[in-house]
Amino acid sequence: MDILRTAIQERISGKAARWLVTGAAGFIGSNLVEALLKLDQEVVGIDNYSTGHKRNLDEVHDKVSPAQWGRFVMHTGDIRSARDCSTAVEGVDFVLHQAALGSVPRSIEDPVLTNENNVDGFLNMLVASRDAGVKSFVYAASSSTYGDHPGLPKVEDEIGRPLSPYAVTKYVNELYAEVFAKCYGFQATGLRYFNIFGPRQDPEGAYAAVIPCWFAALLHGKTPRINGDGLTSRDFCYVDNAVQANILAACSRNSHAQGQVYNVAFAERTTLNELFGMIRDIVARVRPAVGTITPEYGPERPGDVRHSLADISRARNLIGYAPTHSIRQGLEEAAEWYVHALA
Ligand SMILES: NC(=O)c1ccc[n+]([C@@H]2O[C@H](COP(=O)([O-])OP(=O)(O)OC[C@H]3O[C@@H](n4cnc5c(N)ncnc54)[C@H](O)[C@@H]3O)[C@@H](O)[C@H]2O)c1
Repeated sequence: MDILRTAIQERISGKAARWLVTGAAGFIGSNLVEALLKLDQEVVGIDNYSTGHKRNLDEVHDKVSPAQWGRFVMHTGDIRSARDCSTAVEGVDFVLHQAALGSVPRSIEDPVLTNENNVDGFLNMLVASRDAGVKSFVYAASSSTYGDHPGLPKVEDEIGRPLSPYAVTKYVNELYAEVFAKCYGFQATGLRYFNIFGPRQDPEGAYAAVIPCWFAALLHGKTPRINGDGLTSRDFCYVDNAVQANILAACSRNSHAQGQVYNVAFAERTTLNELFGMIRDIVARVRPAVGTITPEYGPERPGDVRHSLADISRARNLIGYAPTHSIRQGLEEAAEWYVHALA
């Protein structure tokens, strides 16, 4: 927290800054709200609760002081409405834009809905933020933008062709960001998240991400399913690292840092088989019978990339990103939350 407090103080001396977190009731959004309130900032949130939950904000309420909670204003609104966007961004210094429909399979099922939320909504937020004259705009981009590029580790300037409608929408965000810099001098900074995980990531529903899905299955004594042979690999990144990247990117005073895209990851590759073993060992400490469960294997999912590993040197060099949690440390912290939440 100390480097974040310093980064904020150096950017805005004196009074607290006002932050807008879109998608505030979601997994990453609610973690951003919590961190910013704990840093004594003023925070505005907006969410339409399509995939987010009020219970996430209730949990934030319980984790901050009454004075800190008093600095939070929540709007129920939809970023597909230009008016909702301009209302939310009024008087805001920094925008952390997280609202979108995640999930590759969901986008394959309903590309139009994904496009409306992820592209139309993004453009509305960009226009509203430009018109409001915010100091920085940081948005959730995605490692899916690397598409079919075979290179490892992934470096920001070498991308392939998209493999899903979701990946198209996230790449379009980057293109709009680039064009807004050229046409209006408005800088928007993209964070290409690589499989972020942690407390409040939703374990329910058809589009749940792998880590919450497996915690939920094992805690309920069920057999998790691995899509493919289990050798598919990902650069799993704990949510505190993503929170850090957002705040550092928003507050950076390095003129070369604004308007870039950055990989946000831990820079370590873990196969699904390894991930399964780690989660099973952690859960087995509280549910010993789980220790003997083996996964079921199914076909690979269309639209998924085979391997993913980030080069994070650009974020390290330009915004001072220094991830604090490895996958193991992150899983330990996430486990505490899942054991409690799914009890
Ligand atoms: N979690 C990851 O591993 C990951 C990886 C890459 C990119 N991302 C991106 O990070 C962002 C946050 O993802 P998350 O994992 O926290 O997902 P999430 O579903 O928990 O959060 C998204 C939030 O946005 C809200 N939202 C969606 N459409 C909206 C709309 N039209 N108007 C207002 N609110 C809306 C949802 O209700 C939800 O609360 C998304 O942009 C996602 O694409 C996430």
